[in-house]
Amino acid sequence: MSDKEPCLFTAKTFHGLEKILASELKKIGAGNIKILKRAVSFEGDTEIMYRANYEVRTALNILQKITEFTANSSDELYEKVNSLNWNDYIDINETFSIDKTIHSNIHKHSQFAALKTKDAIADFFTKKYDKRPSVNIKNPDKKINLHINGNKCTLSIDTSGDALFKRGYRIGTGPAPLNEVLAAGIVMLTDYKNIDYFYDPMCGSGTILIEAARIFMNIPPAYSRKYFAFQKFKNYNYQLWNKIKREAEKKIKKEITVKIIGTDIDEEIAKIAKKNISEARLRKHITVLNRDFLNTKFENKKGLIVTNPPYNERLKSLNINKLYKETGDTLKKGYKNWSSYIFSGNPDAVKNIGLKPSQKFQLFNGKIECRLLKYDLY
Ligand SMILES: C[S@@+](CC[C@H](N)C(=O)[O-])C[C@H]1O[C@@H](n2cnc3c(N)ncnc32)[C@H](O)[C@@H]1O
Repeated sequence: MSDKEPCLFTAKTFHGLEKILASELKKIGAGNIKILKRAVSFEGDTEIMYRANYEVRTALNILQKITEFTANSSDELYEKVNSLNWNDYIDINETFSIDKTIHSNIHKHSQFAALKTKDAIADFFTKKYDKRPSVNIKNPDKKINLHINGNKCTLSIDTSGDALFKRGYRIGTGPAPLNEVLAAGIVMLTDYKNIDYFYDPMCGSGTILIEAARIFMNIPPAYSRKYFAFQKFKNYNYQLWNKIKREAEKKIKKEITVKIIGTDIDEEIAKIAKKNISEARLRKHITVLNRDFLNTKFENKKGLIVTNPPYNERLKSLNINKLYKETGDTLKKGYKNWSSYIFSGNPDAVKNIGLKPSQKFQLFNGKIECRLLKYDLY
């Protein structure tokens, strides 16, 4: 495949972030963008694929389509997978794994379909060379993705490798850290432009703060990542990859005017946030204090609060309704003219805030259905 040849890709994401992902992909020049369930498909050349991996904040991984076919039985699936030239995708000395997403009455046993696919690939090599690449589930060189809907099968290769939420700056977490992709998506759903203060009052390990700073400063989401799967592709273009990184890095702002602040009531967790902020080299731009939000005020200032209070899934011991009531009271008293966004997976607790949301977004944190709620404070 030449660098300019257009390919089909699927970028995966979390439920609720599809539109933001589509707009990010449009911005880097992707074509034929289609919003799917927890994913966005698009067309692009190698440059677009490299940029999607490096610059798109709300993608979990970028899959490049190998082929599409119909298979009405597992034998047909095997034959069609086996007939592909796998030399183009996997080196005999490399390891591989099969990821699967299957919605099908024909291929009901998804594990079996994945096994057939794995055998078909391994047999392709054994027949030709009497030797085959090994399977490595945990840390494969090449991840092959099998997607089946009814009898329609799509095979793709993962260009990212490790999921893109692994940004490379998180060295510690609190008990309930937000996924980095979700945190970036949350910030991007807010009115974050033209603000003087950005405040996460219950910042935990600092994910929202770091993702926000990176957005404000144009720091690419994968800036601190060391490795992507496409670097092991046969057509890996080192010059092009370096050019893309240099161009993106030229756009990084050295200074920003918005003040980014976080607080957390737990001294140890506040320390973890500080460590992650240092690791992300953002110490100059983010201040974290070990404080109880319920005793804070930013009077005469105007800004944006974005926070993810405990919602009692992983932090069970708190009196959650009281905390939400007091959070609402603190917002009303201490933050006049601010905007605030609360991200929570506890709809009953949220009712205690005592404010009417002016906007609501449905999102998922893992399996937990959550809402991002906007409250305008007067
Ligand atoms: C769900 S966690 C936040 C996770 C964070 N978004 C992250 O990615 O790590 C909620 C945090 O709120 C903090 N917290 C609870 N009550 C607080 C209060 N009154 N003031 C400040 N922080 C509080 C907890 O210590 C905890 O770290």
